[in-house]
Amino acid sequence: MSSDVAALKAEILRLTREYSRLTHAANRPGNDPAHARFTPGETTVPYAGRVFDEDEVEAAVSSTLDFWLTLGPEGEAMERELAEFMGVKHCLLVNSGSSANLVAFSALTTHKLPPHKRIRPGDEVITVAAGFPTTVAPIIQAGAVPVFIDALPLTGNADCSLLEAAFSPGRTKAVMMAHALGNPFELATVLEFCQRHDLWLIEDNCDALGCTYTLPLERAQALGLDHLIKIATKEEHPIIRIHPAEEEKEARYLTAPTGSFGDISTQSFYPPHHLTMGEGGAVNIIRRAPLKTYAESFRDWGRDCWCASGKDDTCNKRFKWQLGELPEGYDHKYIYSHIGFNLKPLDTQAAIGRVQIRRLPEFIEARKRNWERLRRGLHGLEEYLDFALPTHATGWNPPAAHAPEEPPVSHFTWDASGCRTDCSWFGFKITLREDAPFTRTELAAHLDEKKIGNRMLFGGNLVRQPAFVQLRHDDPAAMRVSGELPGADRIMKHTLFLGTYPGLTVEMIDYMIQVIRDFVSARSGK
Ligand SMILES: Cc1ncc(COP(=O)(O)O)c(C=O)c1O
Repeated sequence: MSSDVAALKAEILRLTREYSRLTHAANRPGNDPAHARFTPGETTVPYAGRVFDEDEVEAAVSSTLDFWLTLGPEGEAMERELAEFMGVKHCLLVNSGSSANLVAFSALTTHKLPPHKRIRPGDEVITVAAGFPTTVAPIIQAGAVPVFIDALPLTGNADCSLLEAAFSPGRTKAVMMAHALGNPFELATVLEFCQRHDLWLIEDNCDALGCTYTLPLERAQALGLDHLIKIATKEEHPIIRIHPAEEEKEARYLTAPTGSFGDISTQSFYPPHHLTMGEGGAVNIIRRAPLKTYAESFRDWGRDCWCASGKDDTCNKRFKWQLGELPEGYDHKYIYSHIGFNLKPLDTQAAIGRVQIRRLPEFIEARKRNWERLRRGLHGLEEYLDFALPTHATGWNPPAAHAPEEPPVSHFTWDASGCRTDCSWFGFKITLREDAPFTRTELAAHLDEKKIGNRMLFGGNLVRQPAFVQLRHDDPAAMRVSGELPGADRIMKHTLFLGTYPGLTVEMIDYMIQVIRDFVSARSGK
């Protein structure tokens, strides 16, 4: 690039930053002094959204000016950076979280796996009834059978005591479920179940980037979590570590991010999620390197060749392969070993994502801080509202029980499993108690009127969604419900969630608290 052209680009980027600063004040982090002013009742309090400043806009414009367009240098760098953060072998960028789930699941259907591990049409995959539809859709799209178990309204996650009853010898091949709203599911129990029956575990980590799970080191060793233990032993990773517990100095525990425990996991980078590329997602290959080649093939048209965009002959035998019934020497670039898709994002999206990764530690902390501020502010309403608990927690302690801190930290009591979760919450989940003097719809409508963003727990009980009712009608064998689903029904009828995203200001959170307290007080007469 000549110096004139470089100077021109620098000037465009300087103006870009200026433009972004002047136009996007409402999208800055909530604790940024330059965040747009909040006027209660007038400014909408979103439940989530893009959080960025001029750095992301500059990265997008710079990459657009370079005009590589297809997944290229920024994509490669982001895949590397994300894999490092997650402590996984590889990350593959895709164009959405739903695509990530599709690619992750498809990878396990490849003929390149040993027959007993390959997921075939008619095989069963255990999942949870409450959640987002595209956690389940890839199972059906591959002709496999989702087997739904119930969810626990307090955590939003699967009731793992139901796993064994859902298992069909010879048919169950995998467990695929999400860490609901940034609350890790019971990983130790699920992993033990998968180990016992030689099943794949696909973690839908779309709502949970940066959440962590802790388990006793001995249990981690018995589960063969050597890939995490190895990283922790180096004592270099910011999250993955071996440590004592506060209350029990002798014992050792392993802590690692959700999405790094199973076989494959997925991320969404749609704007409400922990980081954004606009549309986007990732498949994390946790420990078995060959799964990368299979996933990449399904992502990239089903091709056998693994050369990155713009590169040729990485294998050094581009014209020396003979596969299928093709003639010897047929160009490897055009040999297809799978019935695939094309689900790649643009390099410009990765340029934005890379800036977001740098912000991730602050984003993760902001979500925890915002959850705790809401929880403290709504303390006292437990008579009518059940507030979410992190998996393995048995209770939340109000601040009076401990010294005040800044930033506020959540204090929970825990079950006896030795396992702990640390949630970077996707949302603040509230479930109305049976005897609340108002309905979830009334509360949601009131919040809407007061311009406070709120959402249901996605599809509620998925099996009651029209698509699944139709599926059962068309082919009763296409899905199976194991046991009853009262928890998922309760979530469907009585749960909503508020925002915890890093764009919320303290004033917004305090306004949310006041509106809910006033509403409950007016309805209950207390
Ligand atoms: C648990 C879960 N999985 C998958 C997805 C799909 O992600 P995307 O919207 O990027 O397709 C979502 C979306 O919010 C989700 O919550």
